[in-house]
Amino acid sequence: MLERKAMRIMAVRRLLQVAAIALAVLLLWAIFMRGDVGNDAGLPSSPGEELTDGHAPGVRRQDDGIIKVGLTMDTLQEERWIKDQEMFGEAVEALGAEFIVMTADSDDAKQIEQAETLISMGVDILVVVPHDAEATATIVNKAHAAGIKVMSYDRLVRNADVDLYVSFDNERVGELQAEVITKLVPEGKYVFIGGADTDYNAHLVKKGVFNVLQPFIDRGEITVVFDQWTRNWLPANARDNMRAALRANEGRIDAVIAGNDATAGGAIEALAEWGLAGKVPVAGQDAELAAAQRIVAGTQTMTVYKPIRQLAEVAAELAVKMAKGETPRADRLVNNGKIDVPSVLLTPIAVNADNIDETIIADGFHSREEVYKLIER
Ligand code: BGC
Repeated sequence: MLERKAMRIMAVRRLLQVAAIALAVLLLWAIFMRGDVGNDAGLPSSPGEELTDGHAPGVRRQDDGIIKVGLTMDTLQEERWIKDQEMFGEAVEALGAEFIVMTADSDDAKQIEQAETLISMGVDILVVVPHDAEATATIVNKAHAAGIKVMSYDRLVRNADVDLYVSFDNERVGELQAEVITKLVPEGKYVFIGGADTDYNAHLVKKGVFNVLQPFIDRGEITVVFDQWTRNWLPANARDNMRAALRANEGRIDAVIAGNDATAGGAIEALAEWGLAGKVPVAGQDAELAAAQRIVAGTQTMTVYKPIRQLAEVAAELAVKMAKGETPRADRLVNNGKIDVPSVLLTPIAVNADNIDETIIADGFHSREEVYKLIER
């Protein structure tokens, strides 16, 4: 009886010893895995990842192991932004990261507030399509204060330490527009319907347009009789500008270069009121479906196609790299008023009625059926 009791006590003791060893091994393993061996207390520190590569060394963020990519967009007004949102989101998720998006509806205060929300949600990288190039500088500063890097997507944030800018070559967009139109109209009265003054892309496109027009202007062959920005890129504002240009010149306009397809559409509405749609060459950009349909119908001359999937995939890959603390490759520098921003600029493609099939249709950007559905073939 006594012997059995003693054996039971010994068994319990052995069990306790084994449990104590197991606990010690577990503790040591946990300490080792946290990389905290040798800290002051000799104990694991509070949860969170010490950022060594961000702009605010010492800032600690929660790290649940999943990379979170936050995107703040200006608008979904133009067709392209819906593609951007979908394709960028898909590409981010395909890389195993989480995607969070917010859209500010052209409201600067709202965009800043949404960026703050994304920062407080613990995104590992903040991607910004700015509404106002200058106003969004504050977003970059706030993200950096939290140790989060910032990518400018399609549009450049001005006067801030942007970490990376990924876009198409917007100056080249303007050059392509003007190259096509000056071939058709080497002399005459030109109207320039710019994009939104608050969007730096609109300025880059304008620079490209005038790179090409200037020699014609200098030789007295081309006169730019109207040159205005379009507030918030709104087609109705572009239509009103075009109406004013037509009135001032009594309908004698020879060519129109517009900031994008939406503003080109507004300008074409005004031309139609003067019976000039299809008679005056018009350039746009984005390869929107409505523009593609106008091109095959003959009321718009050309558009500039920017393959959005390419932009979305490149941007997603680089965003995830940046979130991991890697330095992404950049092929050039673009000055944003404060610094030379490392940039990746993709190549835009000029599209007219002759190459529409082998570009936007061949790429599946729009189907052949959709593009030609309003005209007889
Ligand atoms: C983009 C264009 C777009 C425009 C209006 C620009 O910054 O580059 O593709 O049409 O914004 O949203």
